[in-house]
Amino acid sequence: MIKNRHFLSLNDYSAAEIKELLDTAAEIKKHPKRFRKALKGQVLAMIFEKSSTRTRVSFEAGMYQLGGAAQFLSSRDIQLGRGEPISDTAAVLSRYVQGIMARTFAHQTVTDLAKFGTVPVINGLTDLEHPCQIMADLQTIREHFGTLKGLKMTYLGDGNNMAHSYMQGAGKVGMDCTIITPKDPKYYPNADIITGAEADHAAQGTKLVLTDDVMGGVAGSHIVITDTWISMGMEEEKAERMAAFKGFGVTNEVMEAAGKDAIFLHCLPAYRGYEVDADVIDGPKSLIYDEAENRLHAQKAIMYHLMKKD
Ligand code: CP
Ligand code: NVA
Repeated sequence: MIKNRHFLSLNDYSAAEIKELLDTAAEIKKHPKRFRKALKGQVLAMIFEKSSTRTRVSFEAGMYQLGGAAQFLSSRDIQLGRGEPISDTAAVLSRYVQGIMARTFAHQTVTDLAKFGTVPVINGLTDLEHPCQIMADLQTIREHFGTLKGLKMTYLGDGNNMAHSYMQGAGKVGMDCTIITPKDPKYYPNADIITGAEADHAAQGTKLVLTDDVMGGVAGSHIVITDTWISMGMEEEKAERMAAFKGFGVTNEVMEAAGKDAIFLHCLPAYRGYEVDADVIDGPKSLIYDEAENRLHAQKAIMYHLMKKD
């Protein structure tokens, strides 16, 4: 039973709720036709302040496959982008649609949409978190290893939205999590997110390790993950970031240090030759396209639980 009205952060969800979402995602993937009328007649508004390929297409396709429809709303085109308050936007959209998905810069924009609207709100990525992506990743990992408990995931690179959601997600499902970032505190994960994730890891008896030691940190990992060094909105820092992250890319040597059965994941879009070598991301250990596909199934499960009428 999912008690949450919204899907804004993995931190808001219990371990049992995450498992329930993953189980539904697996069922939807296996039997998509059983769900083709689940959200019949319902509409999802999708607000985008940032670019997207996977999130936009998988939500729109997913909504259609559940019997509903989705509307793409670029913040450049709607009045929000011209200064209309979030409170009015949320209240008005709630009169037209049954759910809102939003990809924003400030995390507070999605929490405000939830606060001022009366329909479920789904976080499609903020500067702080990307919870939908982690649900797809957990689904991919569980499909591959048959379990989540007892595995070790290691993330290398920027202590960004992806690092935050991985720490949180691992703590919910009984996985050890190592986050490897450069020594410069500018690239560390957010302190409040670390504190929240630490509590979950303590409850599960799993390890959350933060380090700048690439080879030591990655040893014994079942899953090696990275993300772009230049997230959306950070384009002006490109030169500085390229220098800061040198030595933090996923190479064949890093994958070998992880262990022979390790898999590689990346939320995409990827920049080959920077955060990951082409040999790795296009090689046999990479499950990036299964991972991207699972965005569809995982999000259908989220929409189903939040929007279905009982
Ligand atoms: N991984 C991800 O969210 O991809 P998009 O930016 O293409 O939506
Ligand atoms: N960290 C990246 C993820 C893209 C899906 C960004 O925020 O741009």
